Amino acid sequence: MDPFDFPTEVSDAAVRARAVGALREAGVLLPSFAQLSEPSTIPEAVLARLAALDPDAADPANLFRVHWHNDAARTGRVETPGYIEVPRSLTGVAARVVVALGERFPMIGAHKVLAAYACLVPRIVAGRFDPSTQRAVWPSTGNYCRGGVAISRILGCRGVAVLPEGMSAERFEWLDQWVADPADVIRTPGSESNVKEIYDKCAELERDPANVIVNQFSEFGNYLAHYLCTGRALERIFEDLRASDPDLRLAAFVAGSGSAGTLGAGDHLKEALGARIAVVEPVECPTLLYNGYGAHNIQGIGDKHIPLIHNIMNGDLVVGVSDESTDALDLLFNSGEGQAYLMARKGWSAALVDDLASLGLSGIANLLGAIKTARRLELDERDVVITVATDSARLYQSERDKWRAARYPDGFDEVDAAEIFGAHLASSDGDHLLETTHRDRRRIFNLGYFTWVEQQGVTLADFDRRKDQRFWQGLRGLLPVWDEMIERFNHETGLAGRAGRAA
Ligand SMILES: Cc1ncc(COP(=O)(O)O)c(C=O)c1O
Repeated sequence: MDPFDFPTEVSDAAVRARAVGALREAGVLLPSFAQLSEPSTIPEAVLARLAALDPDAADPANLFRVHWHNDAARTGRVETPGYIEVPRSLTGVAARVVVALGERFPMIGAHKVLAAYACLVPRIVAGRFDPSTQRAVWPSTGNYCRGGVAISRILGCRGVAVLPEGMSAERFEWLDQWVADPADVIRTPGSESNVKEIYDKCAELERDPANVIVNQFSEFGNYLAHYLCTGRALERIFEDLRASDPDLRLAAFVAGSGSAGTLGAGDHLKEALGARIAVVEPVECPTLLYNGYGAHNIQGIGDKHIPLIHNIMNGDLVVGVSDESTDALDLLFNSGEGQAYLMARKGWSAALVDDLASLGLSGIANLLGAIKTARRLELDERDVVITVATDSARLYQSERDKWRAARYPDGFDEVDAAEIFGAHLASSDGDHLLETTHRDRRRIFNLGYFTWVEQQGVTLADFDRRKDQRFWQGLRGLLPVWDEMIERFNHETGLAGRAGRAA
């Protein structure tokens, strides 16, 4: 599909009628984007259904948990999204560093299920996807395709995951349990940064009209869901902090870029609160910093290209973080030896150590990016830097075991833990950090040409119009249009105002 051909009206009435029938049959009531950004507006009947429902069940009501406002048990709803304020004893900076928790999202324990929903639903309500005959294909490095497979299963259609074979074993184990057929997990060569290989596979699959590629890297629904839902959620967290300290400023929003969806929240935070936007990337694959390339293990980010939905011209900083640091800190935070060292020698509380398990590898990268940003901008105690942990450490036990065995074949002890602390936290430096000028932004923007215009067939005019902030501002008008289409669709399935049916 042409990513600029936005679904704003019904394209094919027959396809849409079949989708209405399929979702009625599956008992699926679709949440609107407004409801996912403001879950207090979710109807009582749905909330009543959710009360007794496992957040990881393939049940239509769990679509109403695809937001940031789930409580720690992931069963109830909270006004302020879950977050951790990371103390100065860890960050070493005066600025207040907070991390929003993606692990509270349903089914996959990562916020990428929001992106998956946002990319597919506009097509369904516009009659551009037939759940009764077509397969939704989810190109990804692991979390988005899990989200896509979960959404597909709830909607009663086939979902196909396309991901590099080198991603964490936990991702594949999850997929094995959720796909309808083992052939629906397609492994492409390489690891995190091998997105070109995923595109090639998708191009091959797309020749069959039964396969619909739902490409997070170019679907503006991904950008828009984060602009609205993640942007508002992070604003709520900031408001929570400011309630007890009215002088606080939101100095920066920091996020790694995989599809660049999450970065969409930055556009909201810049408009609403004047936050700067910092994008994190692996030093081992420094595409934005140096037009570079390479393999790395910060799973989820650093994909060796510039996504079409990345609003490069609105960014302020690019921050490089090494996967040496994220792998090492992951071991420090999540091993008995590391935790013992942090509590006994560094005085960290058991609660802080416990909280750190909520950060997956890219969450640790974001935390380091936030610290580097605070240092570079010389932020003080009135400044807040906000970032996200897309998923948690629980998805990386196999990676941790591999890394530990390779680095510490004779055992890992407290001296090793102290070395990691000294090398990767205490002396976190200002290297590989760019405060972007207009010229830097143009250089990065231009790099996207080779993927999108040369390889993927986007017209030059469409590619170029993303330079102008008015393009991105204009996109936001799609959200109320989509919500209206969702509402009409729900009306036609006959499930509006009800909770849907149990799976
Ligand atoms: C673990 C993890 N972190 C970060 C990201 C990057 O998020 P985004 O695609 O919104 O840029 C992803 C994306 O898949 C991810 O899986």
